[in-house]
Amino acid sequence: MGRICGKIFRFVAMTEVRPVLFVVGAGPGDPELITVKAQKVLQNANVILYDNLASRELLNLASEDCEKIYVGKRPYGEYTPQEDILGLIKSKAYEKGNVVRLKGGDPFIFGRGFEEVLYAREQGIETHFIPGISSMQALGFEDIPLTHRSVSESIWVVTGTKKDGSLSDDLKLAMQSNATVIIYMGMKKAVQIAETYSSEGRGDTPVAVVQNASLPHRKSAKGLVKDLVKLIEDNQLTHPALIVIGKVADINNLGY
Ligand SMILES: C[S@@+](CC[C@H](N)C(=O)[O-])C[C@H]1O[C@@H](n2cnc3c(N)ncnc32)[C@H](O)[C@@H]1O
Repeated sequence: MGRICGKIFRFVAMTEVRPVLFVVGAGPGDPELITVKAQKVLQNANVILYDNLASRELLNLASEDCEKIYVGKRPYGEYTPQEDILGLIKSKAYEKGNVVRLKGGDPFIFGRGFEEVLYAREQGIETHFIPGISSMQALGFEDIPLTHRSVSESIWVVTGTKKDGSLSDDLKLAMQSNATVIIYMGMKKAVQIAETYSSEGRGDTPVAVVQNASLPHRKSAKGLVKDLVKLIEDNQLTHPALIVIGKVADINNLGY
């Protein structure tokens, strides 16, 4: 009897699921711009909860029996409520073990990644963070270095869409400096951005808009921030795009 109980206990112990969450950066879009560590974690995933901007090609790294669930949010369109995502993190981690939360760019740059880490910890789930290349780092493909000696000494990374939908007030502070200003989720705020710069006498600052950075079908346009709306319309630029304001946006015309 004792031996049978021992065997049953060992069997239960062997099959017990250890709940783990990996919050993983998928990079800016090009599936090759992912870390080696992220690749290994995807190969060992039991469940992948993936976002709208994470490359679908990365899902091929996972095993066939890995469950892949889309939990994306399309701007101004259909979306998976954050509570549902949290619910899935908990249920899947306890049911299956290794859950990968695959997020576009870096999960901790306007990605709500840390919220999910905190939630998982509260639920007794072990957590790991694997950084990703943020979309702003893919601006280099357009010859836009975020800093360049004698041109830009610092960077402001600002959200165009706060929790309440408004443009961050930090933009007004950022534009007082010579820093490179990078605006995420700012496309619907182009009018406000242009007006804010123009009203402060900074309308002639160079701007670039880059859509689908790092991907083969990427598009970009450069001009002056006072003309931002026209620039977006004329070039039919849309989400997902970054707005970069500062001298680096037009560095080729500075003789570099
Ligand atoms: C919710 S935020 C996520 C940012 C992401 N965590 C990152 O580090 O890039 C979504 C915004 O990121 C920007 N974005 C993400 N991928 C992009 C890409 N490939 N090209 C241009 N902008 C991108 C856009 O401004 C988009 O509205």
